[in-house]
Amino acid sequence: MKSPLESLGDFTLPWINDWSLGREVEALRAEVVRGAAGRVLEIGAGTGLNFQHYRAGVDVTAVEPAARMRRRAEERARDAVANLTLLEGKAGELPFDAGSFDTVLVTFTLCSIRDLGAALGEVRRVLRKGGSLRLLEHVKSPDPWVAWLQRAIDPAWRIALAGCTLLRDPAVELERAGFESVSLQAIELPLPVPVRAGVIGTATRG
Ligand SMILES: C[S@@+](CC[C@H](N)C(=O)[O-])C[C@H]1O[C@@H](n2cnc3c(N)ncnc32)[C@H](O)[C@@H]1O
Repeated sequence: MKSPLESLGDFTLPWINDWSLGREVEALRAEVVRGAAGRVLEIGAGTGLNFQHYRAGVDVTAVEPAARMRRRAEERARDAVANLTLLEGKAGELPFDAGSFDTVLVTFTLCSIRDLGAALGEVRRVLRKGGSLRLLEHVKSPDPWVAWLQRAIDPAWRIALAGCTLLRDPAVELERAGFESVSLQAIELPLPVPVRAGVIGTATRG
């Protein structure tokens, strides 16, 4: 059973997501989404803020576990120019055959997935050989002072934001999951200090 705080989070998170990860990161979303081609799987689609950036002719399947996030995403899916199907689903249990997708896309989601190793194993399984994971994420800062701050506030941050952690290092996790070619660019996100360190890039299944 969910705690009162978790239930409140279910209600407020779609608003928080749209407010905090909206206009400021729009250009970065466009950059990561526009490169998605062929059969695309988006994991943890949230409220569907990426949907408007998919090109016409791209076949997108998007999965999102949270019902209230999905409700908003459904509205945005209707306005998308790509052929888009939105499903309830979790990264660790993807209901797709091996090699089903050319591209998998995640934005600001790896931070929220509890068992990231299992999830990335599933992402690798559903990608075809040579297919790519495209990602845009906030990460653990390389600056020791900011990293200290992130560690200090992470327990409260996780409780307030549905399990989102400030301490993820996608490069390490991707290599551990067996992605052969990991090409991530460190960037400064136009967001508050705890979530300012970011990465954008790709990891390929060899
Ligand atoms: C901060 S939101 C980002 C949403 C969206 N990707 C975006 O860029 O706006 C994180 C999302 O990850 C989803 N999520 C959490 N655990 C997940 C899991 N195991 N599998 C897939 N999505 C998950 C949450 O429900 C939430 O929608």
